[in-house]
Amino acid sequence: MFTKQSLVTLLGGLSLAMAQTTTEEYPSLAEIRAAQATVQPYSPVSNVKGLAFNRFVNIWLENTDFDAAAATEHLPVLAKKGLLLNNFWAITHPSEPNYCASAAGDTFGMDNDDFHQIPSNVSTIADLFDTKNIAWGEYQEGLPYPGYQGYRYPESGANDYVRKHNPLILFDSVTEDALRLRQIKNFSSFYDDLENHRLPQYMFITPNMTNDGHDTNITFSGDWTWSFLSELLENDYFTKDTLIMLTFDETGTYEIGNNIYTFLLGGAVPDDLLGTKDDTFYTHYSVIASLSANWGLPSLGRWDCGANLFSWLAKKTGYVNYEVDTSNLYMNETHWGPLSDDDYSEYYAGWPVPTTDASCSAGNGILSTVKKTYEGLTATFNYTTPFPYDSRSGNNVGVKYSRTLKNGKVESGTSE
Ligand SMILES: *[C@@H]1O[C@H](CO)[C@@H](O)[C@H](O)[C@H]1NC(C)=O
Ligand SMILES: *[C@@H]1O[C@H](CO)[C@@H](O)[C@H](O)[C@H]1NC(C)=O
Ligand SMILES: *[C@@H]1O[C@H](CO)[C@@H](O)[C@H](O)[C@H]1NC(C)=O
Ligand SMILES: *[C@@H]1O[C@H](CO)[C@@H](O)[C@H](O)[C@H]1NC(C)=O
Ligand SMILES: *[C@@H]1O[C@H](CO)[C@@H](O)[C@H](O)[C@H]1NC(C)=O
Ligand SMILES: *[C@@H]1O[C@H](CO)[C@@H](O)[C@H](O)[C@H]1NC(C)=O
Repeated sequence: MFTKQSLVTLLGGLSLAMAQTTTEEYPSLAEIRAAQATVQPYSPVSNVKGLAFNRFVNIWLENTDFDAAAATEHLPVLAKKGLLLNNFWAITHPSEPNYCASAAGDTFGMDNDDFHQIPSNVSTIADLFDTKNIAWGEYQEGLPYPGYQGYRYPESGANDYVRKHNPLILFDSVTEDALRLRQIKNFSSFYDDLENHRLPQYMFITPNMTNDGHDTNITFSGDWTWSFLSELLENDYFTKDTLIMLTFDETGTYEIGNNIYTFLLGGAVPDDLLGTKDDTFYTHYSVIASLSANWGLPSLGRWDCGANLFSWLAKKTGYVNYEVDTSNLYMNETHWGPLSDDDYSEYYAGWPVPTTDASCSAGNGILSTVKKTYEGLTATFNYTTPFPYDSRSGNNVGVKYSRTLKNGKVESGTSE
């Protein structure tokens, strides 16, 4: 007799078989049409209570400097309805390594927008969520069918969907699992899931290349954001106990530090913080760490490990965030790694080894599969610092950080 789980696995295996050819960079139109006719979206539902929020909606726009976003008609108005994260930093340039970082806590040296398939022994936030069956999903505008793995769609003409803006599709640990693939859906599924009250507890939302400002500008993406969110903010099902984050992958200017305009909205923003600014130092890695702290999940043992937590969440867990002296911080290049093209980082074939024994900001240890896979190996970087740096290239070496613990003890350090 089949258990429910093995039946699901079996059915998942069947649709994987049907979708197998689509790991190609440019599948044929016939393959795309065949998959469109067969692959169904999958929308698991869960209700795992978090310390500070029960749902997290991560919305990313493209390539805009902080000041340019702050000067738009709509974004500051939206920020005023919630909490502006004034000191939030992207990880590097160009786009894809930032999306990658949001899912796996590392860039793996990626300094390009190439077609990458990251080996299955690299864990992601999907593995963190699965430890507690927290439903997750992605909504990628213009994705032709759930789990499409091609480089872009349509494959020619004006840009609509692009793979480089799809975090979880980069990982074999996701794409080798048919059920997980089907949780990567398009905007029609978003509105279906919204209407049927089956949105996941974590979702990543990528508007198309027009709406996210990539092929247009911040006026256009700001207007898109306003129209996308206005209706949703009136929807009690959507906003209840929810944190909605609007951020950017990176700044448009490469020569500056990479501080990006970011705000939080929704029913989970504490009343006393509404309309205020938070000066705490955050990065895209802080989101992973905050998700872990919120739901009692382990760390990936990568740069999420030492990342600061959302300030009021940190108060609840007792973690004390670091202050970072950002005057010489340039999060505009990444450390060496196997996904580098030798453009802004150095190519090196080895995959960075995560930490398996550090104590991380979220306070729930390291994911057990990470511990098992990398047991006995030395961590490649010092993942307990609140920002990434690389001693070999000198990237962000010499940056000072400190914090004052509750007993008055000051802890300070310099990346070296
Ligand atoms: C969105 O995905 C569905 C299948 O889930 C598909 O039928 C539809 O054509 C897709 N929409 C777009 C705009 O590609
Ligand atoms: C982007 O999405 C909008 C709908 O939100 C659609 O009207 C537009 O055609 C799409 N852009 C491209 C280039 O496909
Ligand atoms: C912004 O982009 C839109 C759409 O491409 C265009 O119509 C508009 O003129 C642009 N605005 C500026 C200030 O460049
Ligand atoms: C990062 O910023 C520094 C300081 O402006 C600059 O020297 C460096 O070239 C920038 N890196 C990239 C990849 O643009
Ligand atoms: C992880 O997978 C990559 C690619 O297959 C391999 O090079 C690496 O040695 C593996 N790491 C461990 C710790 O097994
Ligand atoms: C790594 O970072 C931690 C915390 O910021 C610091 O205490 C430690 O000295 C650093 N270790 C190394 C080897 O630099």
